[in-house]
Amino acid sequence: MQVYGVNELRKMFLEFFESKGHLKLNSFSLVPHNDNSLLLINSGMAPLKPYFTGQEIPPRNRVTTCQKCIRTGDIENVGKTARHGTFFEMLGNFSFGDYFKHEAIAWSWEFLTEVVGLDPNRLYPSVYENDDEAFEIWNKEIGIAPENIFRFGKKDNFWEHGAGPCGPCSEIYYDRGEKYGCGEPGCTVGCECDRYIEVWNNVFTQFNGDGNGNYTELENKNIDTGMGLERLATVVQDVTSIFDVDTMKAIRDKVCELAHTEYQVDTKKDVSIRKITDHIRSVTFMASDGVIPSNEGRGYVFRRLLRGAARHGRLLGIEGNFMAELAKVVIRESKDGYPELEEKKEYIIKLLNIEEDKFNKTIDQGLNILAEMEKELEKSNKKILAGEDVFKLYDTYGFPIDLTKEILEEKGSTVDEKGFREAMEVQRVTARSARGTTLLCYQRWTSCGFRYYNDQRC
Ligand code: GLY
Repeated sequence: MQVYGVNELRKMFLEFFESKGHLKLNSFSLVPHNDNSLLLINSGMAPLKPYFTGQEIPPRNRVTTCQKCIRTGDIENVGKTARHGTFFEMLGNFSFGDYFKHEAIAWSWEFLTEVVGLDPNRLYPSVYENDDEAFEIWNKEIGIAPENIFRFGKKDNFWEHGAGPCGPCSEIYYDRGEKYGCGEPGCTVGCECDRYIEVWNNVFTQFNGDGNGNYTELENKNIDTGMGLERLATVVQDVTSIFDVDTMKAIRDKVCELAHTEYQVDTKKDVSIRKITDHIRSVTFMASDGVIPSNEGRGYVFRRLLRGAARHGRLLGIEGNFMAELAKVVIRESKDGYPELEEKKEYIIKLLNIEEDKFNKTIDQGLNILAEMEKELEKSNKKILAGEDVFKLYDTYGFPIDLTKEILEEKGSTVDEKGFREAMEVQRVTARSARGTTLLCYQRWTSCGFRYYNDQRC
């Protein structure tokens, strides 16, 4: 099989669907527009919801995109495993009331086998348990033997992500071979190990879900497909994980260079290397889309990721600021698909440096205090750090609660989240009554993008 880079694969996909009458759109911003159900765009279809529901008319009823996405649901696993990440690119082709199952299935097969050149004998489709129509298409039109088509239930073959358009789906798995397998007798498509990995998801979008399991039938039958670009590259480049594909390896290598270390020498260090490699992509892209670090909403996600990466930099022995150096690699690797990265390079670097400087002032002290707190916990045989202590780390040393939690969980302890929220509330109420008597200098979104509160940047 010919090996293609991430940037080539993105181009090949978009050009293929343009040749099938699709309009290529640039990736939408990571910041959702008119959608309060999401903090950050988490799939290719998310920015297109109004076209699926019929609220808005699409520029064409066939569209193709490569969408930048962030998912933080599994953030605690990022770095620990080789397959989790917060940032990824999602390739997609979409039909708004135009083509449906026949074309979507045929084109996904054509792209994977004829354009990318994956071995058809290693590809296995799955369908929703009672979707006989999709089964028949795979069997009769594509020619897959019935025993090689898998029927799965709602957990695997019904796509929905929070509220919005959703429906049964048909996925395509690729068999990476025994070397990636668990070797268990029942290991086949659907096994949790790394042998059979899902590369493509054809969603037959027929419903609008309210996020609580209630569905209404959509007027149009639509197609929403998703293929993780880094995951496809993992297969095409025959590498172990997303952290080994060309664009991510370039960042990983830079992390190792800055830390004077090597990947896959020390498993603990590998966790830090992977976390930093992942998080720097998220914050670089978020910065380019105008997200700024703060203590709430998507700004909190930004801050938590950047500070988490900064702490892992410390664990690797990196001194001083290093995120901007890494952001330059992210920009170099991804500007092909996202020219806005290059256009906003100076701003991104400035923003990352400001946030990192701020945390650098308190991180070492905070880490020392936390180490003392951990010792006290151990002495008293406790496993939960009191809310007040968590709050102190947050308020004085800038440790987002999730960062404190992550650090403690590495040693089997955790935090009192309720106690933390109560301590926050006490501070909020105190601050509010203090504000009643203080003249405020509150400047909203100044030119550098930060808020000022009593002349202190917050
Ligand atoms: N929207 C389909 C997918 O992300 O898999």
